[in-house]
Amino acid sequence: MAEVEEEKGVQYFSRDFEWERLRDEVERDPLSSYHLSPFTTAPFSPSPGVADADAWRSFHRCHSTGKFFKERRYILKEFPELIVCDASISVLEVGCGNGSTVLPILRSKQDIIIYACDCSQKALDKAGEMVTTADLTFRDRFYPFLHDFSIDKFPDWLLCTVCQRSSPRKNFIFTQDANGQCLIGSNKPACLEAECCSGGLDFVTLIFTLSAIPFQRMSFVVAECMTVLKPGGLLLFRDYGLFDMTMLRFPSEQRVGFREYIRLDGTLSYFFSLDIVRNLFLGAGFIELELEYCCVISVNQRSGKKMQRVWVHGKFQRPILSTTSLSS
Ligand SMILES: C[S@@+](CC[C@H](N)C(=O)[O-])C[C@H]1O[C@@H](n2cnc3c(N)ncnc32)[C@H](O)[C@@H]1O
Repeated sequence: MAEVEEEKGVQYFSRDFEWERLRDEVERDPLSSYHLSPFTTAPFSPSPGVADADAWRSFHRCHSTGKFFKERRYILKEFPELIVCDASISVLEVGCGNGSTVLPILRSKQDIIIYACDCSQKALDKAGEMVTTADLTFRDRFYPFLHDFSIDKFPDWLLCTVCQRSSPRKNFIFTQDANGQCLIGSNKPACLEAECCSGGLDFVTLIFTLSAIPFQRMSFVVAECMTVLKPGGLLLFRDYGLFDMTMLRFPSEQRVGFREYIRLDGTLSYFFSLDIVRNLFLGAGFIELELEYCCVISVNQRSGKKMQRVWVHGKFQRPILSTTSLSS
């Protein structure tokens, strides 16, 4: 799948071609016309949290060696904010899979704590194993938890630095098993009513994760990400872009919504335009800092065939002052 191919690319943040030129080519190609047409039947809508999350669970059961996702070493180059500040920081990696994004962040500096969720216990087990294999001390800074972000709100203890650092540990939320997997106990923050419970994380990462859920549930997820960020905190986004090679390869039968496709294993893939990403994040109240297509030509090692890859790269900030505090 594409995540692996991206890892092989040489320059991740370059413009090997103009996205507008690719769009014109696709629009002129009669064989691609079905990708552009409005979606007439009802969009894909599995029972919440059942079909799509189940497909991902079964995906992780089939790829339990963990070799499928490679470490995303380019993450720090694309999002240097993660390492530039001196202070200790906290990150939530949403849909962490086997830890491809978690590992380079943990390696980058000592003062980073990562909370990471996924709907698949297998994925979390593998992530815990990869993290502890890389460095046993990483497990003190890595807190994986089972969570279906497309239907459930994030747990309360993520909302507040004080709750994360004191009460959850005392309340055995972060007890870990041999693989570094945390066993969640009480979920109640000590200071739910206190002022500090206004978002506790410095960063939230959504890396090839939002595209994995049905389009109708994306705005819920983005709004949830806002609630767990500190005022001024950053959301780091990277995902499939409109007209990416993998989108153009889907046959029409696998089209389940506008720009939305289902793989043969039942997992979903959505392809984002900049407008859609902007609407989702600004609609939830974020401030846009960076948003662009990343267009890279990668070459298939075996066939020598050139592939036009398109990803969307974005950085969004939770406003320092909320609209309610501005108006009061
Ligand atoms: C393409 S992988 C990306 C993994 C990781 N972010 C990375 O950088 O490699 C998407 C991940 O999202 C997880 N996922 C999909 N739907 C989910 C849901 N509703 N709740 C929690 N995790 C979900 C999948 O299990 C999978 O691990």
